[in-house]
Amino acid sequence: MTVKDRGEIINYVQLEFLSVPENVSLSRVVVASFAAQLDLTLNDLEEIKVAVSEAVSNSIIHGYNNKPVGKVYVTVMRYEKELVIIVKDEGVGIKDVKKAMEAAYSTDPERMGLGFVFMKSFMDEVNVVSEPGKGTTVELVKKLELPKKTTGKQAPKE
Ligand SMILES: Nc1ncnc2c1ncn2[C@@H]1O[C@H](COP(=O)(O)OP(=O)(O)OP(=O)(O)O)[C@@H](O)[C@H]1O
Ligand SMILES: [Mg+2]
Repeated sequence: MTVKDRGEIINYVQLEFLSVPENVSLSRVVVASFAAQLDLTLNDLEEIKVAVSEAVSNSIIHGYNNKPVGKVYVTVMRYEKELVIIVKDEGVGIKDVKKAMEAAYSTDPERMGLGFVFMKSFMDEVNVVSEPGKGTTVELVKKLELPKKTTGKQAPKE
């Protein structure tokens, strides 16, 4: 679904797993380990972990109605200037993506409806493609800064 040309792919890892809740933490750890190789801050890594957890939880809880009945695919890709994570399910899909992404919107009255809010505030880009009956794909993008040490906030040289 990545329509944007992000340049050449440097590395990627893909996971495929059954929609069981234990796999939320597994996918979070794998993505964080992959991202830890890059020039990201601990804060960035924490934010990426939360965003991935929210997207994978949504696939399991909403996509597959919290049942171990379907596959979830998580792909983490490194481009020169971006880290891209794709979370895909083949579950029920979303009728109105725009509405689903609004703060406090949830189809489950027990939930807060904040998953997409976290994803949007913690990542630089969140792209969602979904079709009822076909499934949902969420693309999470974190920009990789040019080496942080050379950007500002340094004591001026004498
Ligand atoms: N993968 C998915 N498949 C089907 N529906 C989804 C999926 N992801 C999100 N949705 C729909 O979008 C709504 C909003 O998702 P969001 O993560 O923001 O909130 P939530 O999951 O309902 O609550 P919270 O994340 O705070 O527990 C969900 O209630 C659900 O209806
Ligand atoms: Mg959610």
